[in-house]
Amino acid sequence: MADMRVAEASGGAATLPFTVTRIHHVAYRCRDAKETVDWYARTLGFRYTNAFAEDHVPSTGAYDPYMHVFLDCGGGNVIAFFELPNQPEMGKDPNTPAWVQHLAFEVPDMAALTAAKAHLEALGIDVLGPTYHGIFRSIYFFDPNGHRLELACNIGTPEQYAELERVAGPMLDEWSQTKQAPTHAQWLHVDPGSLVE
Ligand SMILES: [Fe+2]
Repeated sequence: MADMRVAEASGGAATLPFTVTRIHHVAYRCRDAKETVDWYARTLGFRYTNAFAEDHVPSTGAYDPYMHVFLDCGGGNVIAFFELPNQPEMGKDPNTPAWVQHLAFEVPDMAALTAAKAHLEALGIDVLGPTYHGIFRSIYFFDPNGHRLELACNIGTPEQYAELERVAGPMLDEWSQTKQAPTHAQWLHVDPGSLVE
């Protein structure tokens, strides 16, 4: 409990008796496992590596037949999906705008981001962006399940990352008190490219 208070006061990490090393996988629901596996292979080159399939949920024991597919996103990262044919059709949080909840994947440079946009559009997928975020540029699109996806290319400098870390705590404190967007990092949102005639 003492550690939790330290963490809250500083905005930093608490000292804990264990270490989380990385995201192991993230899992979302899909409408159709095969459609999803094929779509991610075709659009983003993700490799389908393995499936879990049972009639009972391992963690709860509940009867709920499922197909759980795992995709290699590169760099040791894994995204997984569940198809649940016995459940009502999947929906979305109706009170959260469609742009909020999303998964972002990284590409190495702007050439890759541009090539990805062209590839996706050639497949008939609507793509938004590139959008400038100061330390990265992003494109956005949706998968067949309605999950919003982002491809991001980092463009930030070490000085910019250091500055953002410096103001992160004050920004959170200000937001927490006012619920108004703090302006410490306003430069993130002004695309220098947009200022050039
Ligand atoms: Fe994002």
